[in-house]
Amino acid sequence: MSKTLPDLSPKEASSWKALEKHHKNIADVSILSHFKNEPNRMAYTTFEWEDFYIDISKNRIDRKGFDLLIELAKESKLEEAISAQFSGAKINATENRAVLHTALRSLKKDPVFVDGQNILPEVQNAQNKMYAFCEEVISGKWKGYTGKSITHIVNIGIGGSDLGPAMVVEALAHYQNHLEVRFVSNVEGDHHVEILKGLDPETTLFVIVSKTFTTQETLSNANSIREWFLAQAPVSGIAKHFVAVSTNLEKTKAFGIDPENTFPMNDWVGGRFSLWSTVGISICLAVGPNHFKALLHGAGKMDLHFQEAPLQKNIPIVLALLSIWYNNFYGAETEALIPYTQYLRNLPAYLQQGIMESNGKSVGRNGTRVDYQTGTIIWGASGTNAQHAFFQLIHQGTKLIPSDFIGFKKSLNGNQEHQQKLLANFIAQTEALMTGKTRDQVLQELEKTKLTETQKKELIPFKVFEGNKPTNTLLIDQLTPASLGALIALYEHKIYVQGIIWNIYSYDQWGVELGKQLANTVLEDIQKGVSNPHDPSTLNLLSRI
Ligand code: F6P
Repeated sequence: MSKTLPDLSPKEASSWKALEKHHKNIADVSILSHFKNEPNRMAYTTFEWEDFYIDISKNRIDRKGFDLLIELAKESKLEEAISAQFSGAKINATENRAVLHTALRSLKKDPVFVDGQNILPEVQNAQNKMYAFCEEVISGKWKGYTGKSITHIVNIGIGGSDLGPAMVVEALAHYQNHLEVRFVSNVEGDHHVEILKGLDPETTLFVIVSKTFTTQETLSNANSIREWFLAQAPVSGIAKHFVAVSTNLEKTKAFGIDPENTFPMNDWVGGRFSLWSTVGISICLAVGPNHFKALLHGAGKMDLHFQEAPLQKNIPIVLALLSIWYNNFYGAETEALIPYTQYLRNLPAYLQQGIMESNGKSVGRNGTRVDYQTGTIIWGASGTNAQHAFFQLIHQGTKLIPSDFIGFKKSLNGNQEHQQKLLANFIAQTEALMTGKTRDQVLQELEKTKLTETQKKELIPFKVFEGNKPTNTLLIDQLTPASLGALIALYEHKIYVQGIIWNIYSYDQWGVELGKQLANTVLEDIQKGVSNPHDPSTLNLLSRI
């Protein structure tokens, strides 16, 4: 294993110890008191960057705590770790790989070396091949086996080969061309049947996306869909209707895909960070190369900010540190993510893979179990729908749930009345979460009702809001390919910062292997009647299938 990243337990850092002490002192101080105590609070808790405005002032932290968190980042050698990532060092040590999805959107012209080889020309070739192909399909020049142009795209993939492209295609629906893009991921036979409904093989293009080209779900779906296709079309039609994205060119060829129609990707791009690569071909088909390039450009700008901005002004770093503050000092286990636009309704699901597959680790970089909490649980839904679903628990439940509110100043379709209402909710919720409602305020409200004095008294505790619930506000001008790229890159970098401080490896995912292995064993039991040894519960379940 290459040990590019140091082994530094955060608990050994003097700033960590100071944070523990400081937490005891301020845990009971309300956010509103911080505002009163710190006349300059807004100066260090708000950030303007490009078309982003970030406000972290509504957090249970003061200047001293903030400075200690910055100190923790320094003691964790974060700046060195960031340089290591961008320079192509093999920071994914357990897989002996570099982590260079950033090279796919690099705005710098400097070469990036992996094993002594500058990878940028290869990146450019793959991108140009994808752009040329997408232009042919979009323009209608690419013809199907009966000479008709393509009207529908089906992306066959799972995990990083599905969630990112699906989320971005949905997010950029406003920018989409005439092609209709569908996604099939689940191995359940019903999923692909539903996806194929109404599709015409003569005008449908299937994109099989699998970094490894060994994933059970993707290959099962690809095989079934090929059968569906061949039931209506000749074998020669495969070349016009099936393309693949993979690192495993032998396996794509064995599947019958023309090498000409295979778009390569590299092992230095992790699945959950791969939408920027040829894995994003469905995005590129949906919105065209120019918008795809703008997506990359926005992410590239965020990469520069991450590399160059001072720690205390560095948005991904500051958000990561706050997350650590709640996770490790307040004992918060989950974080909510509330995008105030329906276009981003799948951002939480997408980031669940990014964040939880990356930082859901319990072994430190020294190979032993960590004795502190790591990966946060991410969940959420679009506002205002979320307000009518789970906000009750955030406002009045027993759990502390730090939340990110992501909103856009301008809507895409210009309906001002709706937009004003949306933004009113966006802002009001963070205010309500912080300020809450006191007994006196509740009483005043009840005084205006016709309830009896006893009824009023009984109701008061149920109508009180403790408040003091922390939120970050990310206010962005408008949802564009570039701002979306920057937003996704922001969260990607937040993941790495947390992994560095928690002294874990963020870029492997060994935790998904055991289930895959056992599923193969259990499949043998089901398909071949083999009696593999299992525990009593599993044997009982098997007997019922
Ligand atoms: O869920 C595990 C995983 O390896 C993810 O990291 C990846 O995004 C997904 O499976 C799909 O893998 P592939 O692209 O190789 O089919």
